Amino acid sequence: MASDARPIEFLVIFGATGDLAARMLLPSLYFLDADGLLPAGLKVIGVARTVMDAAAFRAKLKAELERRGEGFNQTIWERFAARLDYCPADAGKPEGLRPLAGLLAGAPTIYYLALSPSLYGATCTALAAAGLAGDDCRIVIEKPIGHDLESSRAINAEVAGAFEERRVFRVDHYLGKETVQNLIALRFANILFEPLWNNLAIDHVQITIAETDGVGERWGYYDEYGALRDMVQNHMLQLLCLVAMEPPADAGADSVRNEKVKVLKSLRRCNSGTSQLMSVRGQYRGGVVDGKSVPAYTEEKGGPSDVETFVALRADIDNWRWAGVPFFMRTGKRLPERRTQIVIQFKPLPHSIFGARAQEDLIANRLVIDLQPKEDISLLLMNRRPGIDGVRLQALPLSLSLDDGGRRRIAYERLLLDVLADNPALFVRRDEVELAWSWVDCVADSWADLAIAPKPYAAGNWGPAGAFALIERSERTWLDE
Ligand code: BG6
Repeated sequence: MASDARPIEFLVIFGATGDLAARMLLPSLYFLDADGLLPAGLKVIGVARTVMDAAAFRAKLKAELERRGEGFNQTIWERFAARLDYCPADAGKPEGLRPLAGLLAGAPTIYYLALSPSLYGATCTALAAAGLAGDDCRIVIEKPIGHDLESSRAINAEVAGAFEERRVFRVDHYLGKETVQNLIALRFANILFEPLWNNLAIDHVQITIAETDGVGERWGYYDEYGALRDMVQNHMLQLLCLVAMEPPADAGADSVRNEKVKVLKSLRRCNSGTSQLMSVRGQYRGGVVDGKSVPAYTEEKGGPSDVETFVALRADIDNWRWAGVPFFMRTGKRLPERRTQIVIQFKPLPHSIFGARAQEDLIANRLVIDLQPKEDISLLLMNRRPGIDGVRLQALPLSLSLDDGGRRRIAYERLLLDVLADNPALFVRRDEVELAWSWVDCVADSWADLAIAPKPYAAGNWGPAGAFALIERSERTWLDE
């Protein structure tokens, strides 16, 4: 931040009565305030079309914080509540923003658009027309930015018409997660891994984001996007980039983002000829998850749909480091367990000096990065089993468990602090978003060309059979331990 920049005075949340604001943004701000991390004079203004006063807005948030039961404290709440205000407004129209303009009085402001992406462009245009997009204001938008490359470009262009790139913060909340940060530390704060972090020592990489929840109330949104656009275009490709990128020159925003862009450019694009070997779509039917029977996706809102709730993909990165190392990704709803995990599978030993029995015990080294529900990084190493009756080996995980027993921070806490500090390192640059779309579009277009409908899977299973065939074709398997 330039030293003569005026400090931010307001954080305005558009869509303040919605789910994201209620469950993530406002609680994050409360927890930051509880830890004394919010600037003293910062005011938070909720904006939505619903007409209510500030007292009702505060009461709603208080009820949510009490419901969460994570250390609600009346004294902290009173201090935080004094920062909160509410302004009913129609964000898409400059005249609708007049009351807000009165409150802000030209002060430096961050606008957080917790809105449908279809409203980003109109809101930015209205902010500029209402004189609210001054040089010391910033804008925060969330994925999915668009539905494909073309619509994403159109939204980015409209946003850029009001806020230049340095003032645009595109959130991918996975980048705010503790273990994602730790992956960067693991790679670049240790000498051990870098010499092995390539196709000489790594066999393949697996990235899994498995959820047990169904789509439920989010059906309207989800049915327009599906798992490919909802999860792969953003969270999964971001994780892939952080695993695959070259060491950046420093941890600065542009250095890191330049390296991620190079990975996205190196991703092999699929076409209708290769698509079926590289991708699998699935959609859950009824089944049992966590011991409870759950309905099919199409029964949740009662309509037919050809949207995928599961996707498995093989990605190949055509560069020197990764040639010949496939990255297998899968994500889905109503899978048997909640698990977000990256597995770096090293190659087997070139030659074993151990006898036949020990040979059976040998497992190739593996680095497992668990993002949730547990947060852990563990390295599977071979070890000698104690005993005197011949050599037997066993695999032992060397764990760097990150659980210190404290409250687990919401990923948005870190991201909100970074927007306040004007630090864009954990936000996604326009070219990253667009390159990710161009890769995803190739997959989506090939599905459309070949009329590939999602294959059914029973809720509580790891997707359709094709997901297993996808990886088994290369004589590997999903690591489901
Ligand atoms: C969101 C997706 O971006 O991420 C949801 O829209 C998904 O469909 C969610 O459930 C998963 O986030 P997390 O942090 O719970 O893994």
